[in-house]
Amino acid sequence: MPHDPRGHSHGEAIEGRHSRGYDRMARLLMKPLYRRIAKDVAASAPQGATLLDVGTGPGILLAALGPMRPDLRFVGVDLSADMIDHARRNLADLRDRLELHAADVASLPLDDGRFDLVVSTYSSHHWGDPEAGAAEIARVLRRGGRFVDYDFPRAPFDALTRRSGLDRVRATRFKTGLGPLMKTLRFEAAAS
Ligand SMILES: C[S@@+](CC[C@H](N)C(=O)[O-])C[C@H]1O[C@@H](n2cnc3c(N)ncnc32)[C@H](O)[C@@H]1O
Repeated sequence: MPHDPRGHSHGEAIEGRHSRGYDRMARLLMKPLYRRIAKDVAASAPQGATLLDVGTGPGILLAALGPMRPDLRFVGVDLSADMIDHARRNLADLRDRLELHAADVASLPLDDGRFDLVVSTYSSHHWGDPEAGAAEIARVLRRGGRFVDYDFPRAPFDALTRRSGLDRVRATRFKTGLGPLMKTLRFEAAAS
């Protein structure tokens, strides 16, 4: 887990052989799950939207979403430079409408109000400072833009709307089709 010089935790970057293992597992076994999530995102993304995927990992969600919504532009961010390398390979077909950055959700190298929609899958429970991450997500969203986080029930959902500029809209169970081991909540918030 990387730390900054002041001792603050950035989160748990998945790197090296762990990132290679995750990339392989996600590509071989998890595509049906990401197709389900991509369909859910595709149903609500505004026409022509620019979408940010925070903690994108090897980019499997964006790989599923790209062909469903040719009108969308994508930005993927991950704390792990190794994951960004996997995402660059997996998303080669989207390169004309894709930007990737190795960065911490708590310090996004992105302009204010740039995004209509921010999504994240199974990443927020790794963030070192979820309140700071949510404040950054609120900053890069346009007013009224949405953040949708799909994560395990133990994820720090309450922290995401604590002093962040994000207001909770709803939290519902998301059916993954993979049984109780992948019990997932779909948490939606709006930028105020
Ligand atoms: C379990 S993986 C999920 C990856 C991808 N979203 C997926 O569903 O396949 C969690 C990801 O969050 C990233 N991560 C952890 N802390 C982070 C942070 N503070 N900012 C950005 N990404 C972070 C990790 O490097 C890892 O790639």
